[in-house]
Amino acid sequence: MNILKAVNLRKIYGQGETEVKALDGVNLEVEKGEFIAIVGTSGSGKSTMLHIIGGLDNPTSGQVIVDGQNLSHMTDEELTIFRRRNIGFVFQQYNLVPMLNVWENIILPVKLDGKKIEKKYVDEIIDTLGIRTKLENLPSALSGGQQQRVA
Ligand SMILES: Nc1ncnc2c1ncn2[C@@H]1O[C@H](COP(=O)(O)OP(=O)(O)O)[C@@H](O)[C@H]1O
Ligand SMILES: [Mg+2]
Repeated sequence: MNILKAVNLRKIYGQGETEVKALDGVNLEVEKGEFIAIVGTSGSGKSTMLHIIGGLDNPTSGQVIVDGQNLSHMTDEELTIFRRRNIGFVFQQYNLVPMLNVWENIILPVKLDGKKIEKKYVDEIIDTLGIRTKLENLPSALSGGQQQRVA
């Protein structure tokens, strides 16, 4: 089964002289459980592609279907909830909330969703990522790699 399908994605930034065709008819199908990497030179459109398939930005045209749901048919609010429950995104700058500590950053999306924290599951991830001793630290007191793991 396809977990992700992108159909004829185009993304055009700007217009006229400054127009950039960042994506020009991209098709992609990803099977459930498949691991993929998108590789290309700087400026080739990787971040644009990830933002669009992650529901963070709209394509100029084309469709994104995640787990059978067409993202372009969703309202902003539906998309926000869908992202929170289905998409994990590690940004290049990590985007941790600076005034929340590591533990609070980790559980923030679950809390925003009004759900109960599955402590055993979260603990397992914390130990796998080796950030147990940092749970009470603010992001500003972490190395880049530690921030990345928290994200
Ligand atoms: N917000 C934007 N406005 C205008 N042009 C953009 C914007 N974001 C990216 N671009 C341009 O789109 C192209 C693809 O950028 P990007 O997806 O960030 O590439 P990559 O992540 O592969 O380095 C580049 O030429 C970049 O300058
Ligand atoms: Mg990029």
